[in-house]
Amino acid sequence: MRQYEDILEDNLEWVGKKLSLDKDYFKRLSEGQKPPFLYIGCSDSRMPIDTFTQSEPGSFFIHRNIANQIFSNDMNCLATLEYAVDVLEVEHIIVSGHYNCGGIKAAHDKCRKSNILSSWLMPIKKIEVEHKEELNEIEDEDERLDRLTELNVLEQLKHLFELAIVRNKIESGKYPKIHGWILDIRHGEIIEIEVPIEEWKSKGIIPTEYNK
Ligand code: CO
Repeated sequence: MRQYEDILEDNLEWVGKKLSLDKDYFKRLSEGQKPPFLYIGCSDSRMPIDTFTQSEPGSFFIHRNIANQIFSNDMNCLATLEYAVDVLEVEHIIVSGHYNCGGIKAAHDKCRKSNILSSWLMPIKKIEVEHKEELNEIEDEDERLDRLTELNVLEQLKHLFELAIVRNKIESGKYPKIHGWILDIRHGEIIEIEVPIEEWKSKGIIPTEYNK
């Protein structure tokens, strides 16, 4: 296990490495940000998206919470989203879940240990109930949780498309593309989730102006 002192030492070593390759690295970094991506993901310590995508600082504007939830009453998420969309004008919004997510598992197990966490995860329990038939057909428990993880990302994408911040942007004609991901933590790979755009358009979930 790394000690607290280790991470401070490693920071200085990293600074030295960066400066030896490019003496203006931090000068440039401090000048401002123009990240092309807003990333909404899980708080899980195994999901540093910069590492998985070999990205340098400045690539991702980030919002993370347990099980990558998007709620219309979550000021933290909304403020991040509004800033990313209106000020930074990100080109892509990525909502990402990951297999072996503790939040998904806790929702499935009904998580009675913590009141706050069980409230936070209740919407996932609802997704599980709504898709009971499909999920019950999957015999393997891990595979069933994997599918619930995917359904959760799809549900959060719906929430995202329904937010006024996003809808207004789409209707204006200049808007970020929206993507759903699963990080397959067992293999390290990113899986893109197919978003049923036409179906969601016909149901009014996605404004008709949106094109992939
Ligand atoms: Co997670």
